[in-house]
Amino acid sequence: MLLQVLGTAAGGGLPQWNCACPGCTGARAHPERRRRHASLAVRVGEGRWYVVNATPDIGEQIEETPELHPGPGARQTPVAGFVLTDAELDHTLGIARLREAHDGIDVLATPPVLDAVREGLRLDAVLGPYTPVRWRELPGGVGCPLDGASGISVSAVPLSDKKPRYAANSADGGSSWSVGLRLHDPGTGRTLLYAPALAMWSDAFDEAARDADCVFVDGTFWDDEEPLRSGFSTRTATGMGHLPVTGLGGTAHRLARLPGRRLYTHLNNTNPLGNPHAEQHKQLAEWGIEVAAERMVIEL
Ligand code: MLT
Ligand code: MN
Ligand code: ZN
Repeated sequence: MLLQVLGTAAGGGLPQWNCACPGCTGARAHPERRRRHASLAVRVGEGRWYVVNATPDIGEQIEETPELHPGPGARQTPVAGFVLTDAELDHTLGIARLREAHDGIDVLATPPVLDAVREGLRLDAVLGPYTPVRWRELPGGVGCPLDGASGISVSAVPLSDKKPRYAANSADGGSSWSVGLRLHDPGTGRTLLYAPALAMWSDAFDEAARDADCVFVDGTFWDDEEPLRSGFSTRTATGMGHLPVTGLGGTAHRLARLPGRRLYTHLNNTNPLGNPHAEQHKQLAEWGIEVAAERMVIEL
């Protein structure tokens, strides 16, 4: 399985357009610290890729990744489709940027997420006049083929009932609002688990994480108090649906016990890990945990 990291930041990116916090100011001064919204491309065949989450940066992310460039046909794209972990704006606004798609686009997501983007964001009605969107239901359990009958399969590991704010009134209260994606390559026997939003470390998640050769986990906040301390929120990390890296509810000590490769992604601009010189990197390295880097390539 070949993976291309397209971005590693939480909503807003690094820097965020209206933010002058130390992290964003640092990223303006040091362009190598910039991070695009969290996303990942997965190769499903020769010159064919699926993208995990459609971020507001999708156009730039494709331009920055030669494997995703169009050709040889004038409007031929190697981007075959998208699979969503949730309906949050930082993971779905990019769908609207795909309106030029010549042959339409495929979007896989769980039922509440499909309903939120199709009806809540009105993307069905808005995009319909431009390009056909083929909405596909993302199952749990053993999952379904990502692209065609053979090859990589994808399944949803239900994680939480946290809805995007624009869908707060939705009647659906299930735990498929935010899921981890389990991608399995039958050719190599390798499995990836991608969970950029983790509200709770459930037994089902623990099992999926133990079974995976590589795990990407929610690294939004370093500790639970970070959003309060930075003054941009009145909620803790956990209260915002993001288990922090360390301290109360911290995921690092759990990740440290997993057998596969472990990386944090979806870093908020307040997270000290955004600064490559921060002390916190040493602590993670001692636990054998990485921070996902922009444009890194992983061969599983
Ligand atoms: C999140 O990751 O919790 C969301 O992106 C937050 C938001 O956009 O409101
Ligand atoms: Mn987010
Ligand atoms: Zn900031």
